[in-house]
Amino acid sequence: MKDRPIGMFDSGLGGLTVMRSVIDRLPREHVIYLGDDARGPYGPRDIDEVRRFAREIIDYLLGFDVKMVVIACNSATAAVLEEAQRDYNIPVVGVIAPGARAALRRSRRLNIGVIGTRCTIGSGSYERAIARLDSRARVFSRACPEFVEFVERGEVSGDHIMEIAMGHLEPMLESGIDTLIMGCTHYPLLEGLLHQAVGPDVILISSADETASEVEDILDRLGWLREDGPGRHVFLTTGDVEKSVTLGRLFLGPEVSDVSHVSLDFDLHPELDLEPAPEGSMGVEGDEL
Ligand code: DGL
Repeated sequence: MKDRPIGMFDSGLGGLTVMRSVIDRLPREHVIYLGDDARGPYGPRDIDEVRRFAREIIDYLLGFDVKMVVIACNSATAAVLEEAQRDYNIPVVGVIAPGARAALRRSRRLNIGVIGTRCTIGSGSYERAIARLDSRARVFSRACPEFVEFVERGEVSGDHIMEIAMGHLEPMLESGIDTLIMGCTHYPLLEGLLHQAVGPDVILISSADETASEVEDILDRLGWLREDGPGRHVFLTTGDVEKSVTLGRLFLGPEVSDVSHVSLDFDLHPELDLEPAPEGSMGVEGDEL
């Protein structure tokens, strides 16, 4: 079990912000990352449709014998996490509970703001996750549907996006939030702008590090942490390979040199070579897929 890969997915490349934290914390683990770029973004979609897509992807990842699935997408976590944890017999980790936990740890007045996609905010998942952990907390949430498009265009600063951000955040600031959860995998790329928008007294929370810590805790508890390293990292997309490489570098870093296209055809799982990569190599196997 230890040497099996971790499967991770997102509607596209935003989840690579979570992958970054997982591979920094657990460099020995093999990780297969699948971005559903052909059907992303999920944020504007109906939650039942997102649930269906997410289940298809989890089923596909199981074909690689993964030992755990990380739903590195807030919208997909909101849609499918609870039923996936019930229906699959390997651990399934989402990004919402870790974000909620991190916010409660840092918030002084328990006045927590959450921003995310329409799918995530409409689901009420953050409110439920926070209430389960601390019923005294007050949550102010708001969908910021424009942000994903801005990030994907590489537009992460400037007057236009700042004006939109202030339109969303001012009402929350007036409500007295002291902590703001970036409840979308794209938003950590807007951290500089958001920090400027909310000012120095509001703490920004990204769930990536906390999710990585949960992944480690679960694998450790099960005795499933990989002992030899380094791990290999495989990047798959249902969409356009070139766009995935360009944006992948923005989200994860220069390690994304090779991305392979896959269709979610259950009978067509590419052969993955997960032998230990040579020292210093990220071991992307794209060419062989
Ligand atoms: N990954 C999505 C999320 O965290 C953002 C992009 C999308 O809308 O699919 O909600």
